[in-house]
Amino acid sequence: MTAEARSTDFHDGGGASAATADAPGHALYKEAAADRLGFWAEQARSLLDWRSAFTQTLDFSDAPVARWFADGTLNVAENCLDRHVRAGLGDRVAIHFEGARGDRQTITYAQLTASVQRAANMLLDLGVRAGDRVVIYLPLIPEAVVAMLAVARIGAIHSVVFGGFSAESLRARIEDAQATLVITADGGWRRGQVSALKPAVDEALRGPGTESVSRVIVVRRCENAVDWDDARDLWWHEQMDAAAPEHAAPAFPAEQPLFILYTSGTTGRPKGIVHTSGGYLTQAAFTHRTVFDIHPERDVYWCTADIGWITGHSYVVYGPLANGATQVLYEGTPDEPQPGRWWDIVDTYGVTVLYTAPTAVRAAMKAGRAIPDARDLSTLRLLGSVGEPINPEAWHWYRSVIGHDRTPIVDTWWQTETGAIMISALPGVTQLKPGSAQDPLPGIVAEVVDEDGHPLEPGGSGYLTLSEPWPSMARGIWGDPDRFVETYWARFPGRYFAGDGARIDDEGDIWVLGRVDDVMNVSGHRLSTAEIESALVEHVGVAEAAVVGAADDTTGQAVHAFVIMTAEGSAGLDRAAMSTTLRDWVGQRIGAIAKPKSVVIVPELPKTRSGKIMRRLLRDLAEGRSVGDTTTLADPTVMDQIAAAM
Ligand code: WT7
Repeated sequence: MTAEARSTDFHDGGGASAATADAPGHALYKEAAADRLGFWAEQARSLLDWRSAFTQTLDFSDAPVARWFADGTLNVAENCLDRHVRAGLGDRVAIHFEGARGDRQTITYAQLTASVQRAANMLLDLGVRAGDRVVIYLPLIPEAVVAMLAVARIGAIHSVVFGGFSAESLRARIEDAQATLVITADGGWRRGQVSALKPAVDEALRGPGTESVSRVIVVRRCENAVDWDDARDLWWHEQMDAAAPEHAAPAFPAEQPLFILYTSGTTGRPKGIVHTSGGYLTQAAFTHRTVFDIHPERDVYWCTADIGWITGHSYVVYGPLANGATQVLYEGTPDEPQPGRWWDIVDTYGVTVLYTAPTAVRAAMKAGRAIPDARDLSTLRLLGSVGEPINPEAWHWYRSVIGHDRTPIVDTWWQTETGAIMISALPGVTQLKPGSAQDPLPGIVAEVVDEDGHPLEPGGSGYLTLSEPWPSMARGIWGDPDRFVETYWARFPGRYFAGDGARIDDEGDIWVLGRVDDVMNVSGHRLSTAEIESALVEHVGVAEAAVVGAADDTTGQAVHAFVIMTAEGSAGLDRAAMSTTLRDWVGQRIGAIAKPKSVVIVPELPKTRSGKIMRRLLRDLAEGRSVGDTTTLADPTVMDQIAAAM
């Protein structure tokens, strides 16, 4: 990389401060370094309204489970809604909603508050109480935001399941959380077609372990025909109409669980990551405001994530609304009905801050700059990136074509488990380096360590760890406290290990290199090799399966599966038919996002003498490289056999 590419000065779009070279020297960093807990206590007090003040900032006596601001009480929804209305901001637009088919709604803070109050009463009328789990399986429509906040308002716990997950994935999440209520829609719009959701809920609830669910609330979105269980199913609009309009927000302890969000790990079973209220909301609000330099009175912010992912939780719902920001919510895909749709949205609403994933930038790059060039993107003043390392080519394109060589780009590193952004440049403060997430935010302590957990000197590569607790950290894995400790805290005692490899450069900046475990990252979404392998072997035709993530130009990584067939399963089917069948099978078992890009039928898998599959060698093949060291294989000839099958 050239020196010029490595270091780019930037100014914030308001024409304010130029970059200073030494970010950690800036006031916020100094303040946090001098008194980390005092810094977070100050953020909690100044960014949120507390019903009763906390006296203790952090209790880590039960490490690694932290308690932040634990004796304080608040209501999360009130912090996102009512207090802005009380402050006279009721007419400010909270959400500019753009439906996939071009339908629009402008929703003010007063209107959103009213809807959430009604929805809270609706949930109470149906018997939902504080601590109960409510599964939300909805398209990206305003009702999804209302549902999340209504659940939060009454102290219940939401578990949002991305609409692209299958009935079986939904069932497993309902069972694990023992949810009592599911909120869904008849369907959502996808490229002009109805993508039905209700049938997946019906199927999930026919499955085992879901008896806890007594009610299903259905939003009418597409008016597609749906099966109806009179004893169980209710229309959202009818229940909302019947509910009382006003609801006084009760106060809950800061450690009241707010949500569970399932994410893939290194085993076949997703983990229900648990987040609580006061600490989570503090860090979501702080990072949203600081990293995106949000001025709620004038910015139009747009985060393109779906609410089914952590980015949608923290940077569509909780962070922006806690800050009283105005944002765009768009239901559809970037290129429907034409490839310029996203840029039309930026143009139409005058978006000033755009937060998206490198995969979307690369897709836009492929489509060509003529498309964004034909739109007015001059309102943009800050761009954000999340989900995977952004490659310098995409970074430069994003900055020059979308940002007109003017806008800072913040590359934000974080995870479902961290709840909020942890490592990022700060606009107007940090000198930018394309491809580097750069510095831990004020109040965050991140260290790159070696195999033995010793922090590395600048220039070294190793494992990314977090060495001090932070307010929005996960409080556990739902129902499995031991797994929480084993997964994140056992590898390096006293440190949270994120699963990522990283390099620390000579200036102390962090470059995230990607996962070092069997977790794949496809289009910024986390997928588990083990989960896809176990789905594959559930098919009668599959005897054994190995899955790897291989580099992909658009999606970052793509899923490649290598399978050994059983005699009965493969009878009468050619390889192509079998591959198609298995791709669809994975789609049905887990969801379309998990469908392998390729399924190769092989006679044998590369195994060591002790039977361990050497996925590294399969990755070499999938990435078109010459195969690495095969000396530890039980049968060194298998790689040739596999290569011949591809
Ligand atoms: C994993 C977390 C955080 C919301 C989206 C994904 C990768 C995330 C970056 C970045 C390099 C990144 C990591 C991380 N990742 N952001 N800016 N640079 N890698 O959330 O599904 O919990 O996945 O995404 O590998 O561990 P997630």
